[in-house]
Amino acid sequence: MQRTRIRILLGESPQGQKVRLAGWLRTRRDARDFSFLEINDGSTIKNIQVIASAELSNYESTLRHLGVGASLAVEGELAASAGKGQSSEVRASRVEVLGGADSEFPIQKKRHSFEFLREIAHLRPRTNTLSAVLRLRSRLSFAIHDFFQQRDFHYIHTPIITGNDCEGAGQMFRVTAFDPDQAPRRDGKIDYAQDFFGLPVHLTVSGQLAGEACALALGDIYTFGPTFRAENSNTSRHLAEFWMVEPEMAFATLEDDAALAEDFLRHLFRFALEQCRDDMEFFNKWIDPGAIQRLESLAASSFARLTYTEAIAALKKSGRSFEFPVEWGRDLQSEHERYLTEEYARQPLIVVDYPREIKAFYMKLNDDGKTVRAMDVLAPGIGEIIGGSEREDRVDVLTDRMHEFQLNTAEYRWYLELRRWGSTPHAGFGLGLERLVQFISGMENIRDVIPFPRTPGHARY
Ligand code: 4AD
Repeated sequence: MQRTRIRILLGESPQGQKVRLAGWLRTRRDARDFSFLEINDGSTIKNIQVIASAELSNYESTLRHLGVGASLAVEGELAASAGKGQSSEVRASRVEVLGGADSEFPIQKKRHSFEFLREIAHLRPRTNTLSAVLRLRSRLSFAIHDFFQQRDFHYIHTPIITGNDCEGAGQMFRVTAFDPDQAPRRDGKIDYAQDFFGLPVHLTVSGQLAGEACALALGDIYTFGPTFRAENSNTSRHLAEFWMVEPEMAFATLEDDAALAEDFLRHLFRFALEQCRDDMEFFNKWIDPGAIQRLESLAASSFARLTYTEAIAALKKSGRSFEFPVEWGRDLQSEHERYLTEEYARQPLIVVDYPREIKAFYMKLNDDGKTVRAMDVLAPGIGEIIGGSEREDRVDVLTDRMHEFQLNTAEYRWYLELRRWGSTPHAGFGLGLERLVQFISGMENIRDVIPFPRTPGHARY
C-alpha cells in the first residue's frame, strides 16, 4: 500500500478507510492497554495521532518503550477521533519501527532555545519551528518564480564564480585552485595568471551585472540563487551566504522598479496568507503574535514613498536621539530605517534618491549631480528588505563613476560595452529571501530561517 502524507490524511473525512503513513514520533502517551503515538512526517505542522493497542504483536516488546524521534511506518484505519484538537486518528493494525531513537535524542522537550538548536542544525528541522520555516521558504520560492513567470520574466542562471565585484565593496570570498601554502608568486604577490581561471575570481555578491546583460536582450529577467558576502557583520539580519532574487527590466525607470517591488511584496504576503495558512497560524501563536494581522494589512495597503532628503528631514525632526548621527550624506542605519517605517510612516516605505557617495557605482546619476536613482524598501520590524536602482545607462557617466570608486575599468569592459551598443534605461532590485522569510514569520534571527547558516566563525555541516 502507498504511503499517504499526513497533510492529506488530515484533510480526508474519516470513514474507517485503510491507510499507510510514515513519520517520526513526536510524543508517546501510554494508557493501560494502548499508547497514543503523535507522528509528524513534515508534510504539515500538524501531527496525526496513532492508537497502538496492546494487541499488536510488537507492543510490549517495542512500541510501549518507543523513544521520541524514532521513525515509524504505520498501517491502520482512519477513524473519527473522540479526542480534543483533532478530527481523525489512525487505529493501527501494524506499526513497524524503521529507525529507533534512544533517550539521548536531543529534541525531547517541547521548546528549546534557538541558540541550542543552532548547535544541532542537522536535527533542528525536526522541530515545529524549523520545519514551518523550511516549508515557508519552499513555498515562497515557488511564489517568487510564479510571480515573475506570470509576468513574462525569464529566469536566468547567473554565474556563482565571477571576476567582478558587483557591489564594488570588496566583501568577497576568493575562489582558487591553488594550494595556499604553495601558490606561485610574482613580484611578491600571488600570481593568479597561473591559477585555474587565469585571473583572480570570487564567489558572487549579486547576479545583477550578468542579469543586466541578459535583460538588455530578453527584456525582463530575474535571477534567483545563492550570494556570498565576506562581511564581518554579526547581526540578526546578516548572513555570509544567502539567497537573493533579482529582477531586471529593460526600458524601465526607478518608478517602474518601485511599482514592481511593491506588487511583488504584496503578492508574496498574500500567497503566504493563503497558501501557508497552518504554518502562519503556528508563527502567529508561538513566534510573533499579530503576524497574520500585520501581513493582512500589508497585503492590502500601498507603500509610502519618500526621498532620502525628506527621510533625513523626518529623522531630524523626530526629536529622537539615535546612536548613529543623522546627517545628509551619511547612510541610513537600521535604527533610522526602523524609525522611518515603524513610527514615521507606519507602513512599508520606499526611500529613493540617495547621495551618490553612499551607493553603488552602477546607479544612475540624477540631474542634480548629487543623488542617484536608488531605492531601498524598508519594512516594519526589519528595516531594509529590498535594495535596487535605475542603472546608469550612459557610458561616459558610468566610466566616470567607476573612476570615482577606483574600479579597474578594464575588468568591467563588457559591462561598459552594454552601454555602447543598444543601451536603454533599465532598472532592477534585489530581495534577500531570508529577510523576506524573517519578515513574514516574525523570526527574530536570520540564522533561524535558513537550514545551515553561514556567519563569521560558523560554517559547520
Ligand atoms: O542592497 P543589496 O546589497 O543590493 C544588491 O546586491 C543589488 N545588486 C541588487 C540589485 O539591484 N539587483 O542587497 C539586496 C538585498 C537586501 O535588501 C537584503 O534583503 C539582502 O539582499 N541582503 C542580505 N541578506 C542577508 N544577509 C546579508 N549579508 C545581506 N546583504 C544583503
